[in-house]
Amino acid sequence: MIEIKGVSKSFGGVRALDNVSFTVRDGEIVGYVGLNGAGKTTTMRIAVGVLYPDSGDVLIDGLSIIRDKRRASMRVGWVPESPVFEPDARALDYMVYLAGYYGVSSSDARSMARRLLEEVGLGDAMHRRLKEYSYGMRKRFALAVSMMSNPSNYLFDEVLNGLDPQGIQFFRNLAVKLRGEGCTVLFSSHILSEVENLADRVVFIHRGRIVGEMSMEEVRGMATPSLLIKTDRVDEHLLEVLRAYGDVRVEGGAVIIGNPSGESSEIVDRLVGEGYKVVEVRRREASLEEVFFRIIGEKG
Ligand SMILES: Nc1ncnc2c1ncn2[C@@H]1O[C@H](COP(=O)(O)OP(=O)(O)OP(=O)(O)O)[C@@H](O)[C@H]1O
Ligand SMILES: [Mg+2]
Repeated sequence: MIEIKGVSKSFGGVRALDNVSFTVRDGEIVGYVGLNGAGKTTTMRIAVGVLYPDSGDVLIDGLSIIRDKRRASMRVGWVPESPVFEPDARALDYMVYLAGYYGVSSSDARSMARRLLEEVGLGDAMHRRLKEYSYGMRKRFALAVSMMSNPSNYLFDEVLNGLDPQGIQFFRNLAVKLRGEGCTVLFSSHILSEVENLADRVVFIHRGRIVGEMSMEEVRGMATPSLLIKTDRVDEHLLEVLRAYGDVRVEGGAVIIGNPSGESSEIVDRLVGEGYKVVEVRRREASLEEVFFRIIGEKG
């Protein structure tokens, strides 16, 4: 379990995180969604202990990442946004070297490194130098590294970004497998639809603050259809009539009926009967990204 508790962090005058709190439970995949610069990476770096918060704490399986850093960080695996490794090292050798930090004996380290590299699909590339690795390969390598201490909590920062469909499928399957084993998975993205098919829950961050937290089901429920109607004129009477069919708002000279009840033909007939000329009628499905912008309170 990962518990983020009242974490704040400023860089110079910029308040990157403002009292951020949320929990990721065991056996749960949570999407951490926000625009560029919202504070996702900063949250993750604090949660794995590479960056200290100004205030607040993060508990990994109940252990403070500040007061009990060594034990807490053994329990969390992290795939950074842009993994950086020693470029001239060969993948397998480098894994063995890193294993030393986790207290793995050198005789066990080699077999463990091989097993993990095979598991992430780098079995054929384990003797190559890391500088020859593609972006997606580096992410897979970072994943193998994050799994070295066999942690029960995972933080994936923009892990699907820049991967090919096969790489995306691989990470999705892995996250589902980890969830099945009771692990905790938090993965960030700036695209809500990217987390849709994977996350059980979504935590929204905007300008360093948590602005929403809901199940994927609730998020989908917010993506309701609407009906756009353009008439020769928009006046109070028109809005009055249309309010009988749903939530009405005016957008760029057209009227939008949210979650409309009744068929569009019925609504058109009614408007014609009221003396309006109907210029356009269009049904729109609200995209997840519209929902995203509604939650963070900004226009797309
Ligand atoms: N090391 C740093 N020094 C100064 N400012 C920083 C540093 N790291 C992050 N920031 C600032 O903190 C804020 C949050 O950045 P962060 O990288 O956490 O956002 P993010 O949500 O991960 O964005 P992205 O989607 O672009 O990865 C931004 O305003 C950023 O400029
Ligand atoms: Mg980031």
